[in-house]
Amino acid sequence: MEGVVYHNTLRRLRRNRMVRELSADVVLTHKKFIQPLFIYEEKVDENTVEYADLKPETLSSILYRIEKDLQSGIDKFLLFPVPARKDDFSFSFSLQAVQQIKNRFANDLWLAADVCLCSITSHGHCGLLNEQKDEIDNHASVQLLSDYALQLAQAGADCVSPSDMMDGRVAAIRRKLNEQKRDEVAIMSYSAKFASHFYGPFRDICKSYPANGQLTDRRTYQIPVANSNDAIESALRDYHEEADILIVKPACYSTDIIYRLSRKLNKPVAAYQVSGEVAAIELLHRQHQDEKRAAYLETWFSLARSGAQIIITYAARHAKEWIESFKY
Ligand code: PBG
Repeated sequence: MEGVVYHNTLRRLRRNRMVRELSADVVLTHKKFIQPLFIYEEKVDENTVEYADLKPETLSSILYRIEKDLQSGIDKFLLFPVPARKDDFSFSFSLQAVQQIKNRFANDLWLAADVCLCSITSHGHCGLLNEQKDEIDNHASVQLLSDYALQLAQAGADCVSPSDMMDGRVAAIRRKLNEQKRDEVAIMSYSAKFASHFYGPFRDICKSYPANGQLTDRRTYQIPVANSNDAIESALRDYHEEADILIVKPACYSTDIIYRLSRKLNKPVAAYQVSGEVAAIELLHRQHQDEKRAAYLETWFSLARSGAQIIITYAARHAKEWIESFKY
């Protein structure tokens, strides 16, 4: 229309860096990040390592890796042990890994240990199979998983992190920890873990592809992607069974769940940016020379906006540097 002048309104707060910084309502800090670490019992085959931040360590390399991570400001870790021998339910390698790390760093770091069977069983499922080998036996799985969790706690883990998605495991773990006077050990449970197609690189590294006869995926225990009620129910159940931190994953495709849980429950919600989400960013970066750190930061801000209080990401070790350099 002739003569009409369109004034700046919302653009006043976008005009330059200073005003964009002032008007930002989400602040990120590296203190809220957790770094996952893979540890192999055997030598790492460099050919299987696709992305630098997913590189598995060994007993001889992990202390150096952690030292460097501590120097970059990260002091919370989530450990995934990958034993050389399958079906060894003495868990000796996992326990050794936890002991070695805690012996060296004691309380200079906070160490959560994954509690799951998928990298241990020869069939790659997160629980034990029944006799007919056509279903996961929930009861037997929970008994073994809760024993494993207790042993990880006794080895020195500050936190145990059940990712198996069996029913009742948080209550069973809490009970055993309390009975054995490990009531100070926290539980960070995968409370809303979808049966996602974004876990591929992780399964390559952990050699944990589910492959048993007809049971070739995890859909009988992980949450159907079309069922948000199930995700909320699962998280509520873990909350009532006394989980201390509630993980939601895959992070960027579950912001609806993060939003709802963070408003409903007074426990920290942790968004886990999984291996396939990382792979997507890395691919974008390789093919379009996109600024990788900007892409990661965008995902982290969006997770924080949706209500995540904790972010678990393979790129956690860069969080301090990248957040400081963020271009508002
Ligand atoms: C299984 C487990 C998985 C992840 C963490 N724990 C994968 C799966 O369910 O197969 C995925 C993490 C990632 O993709 O980064 N216990």
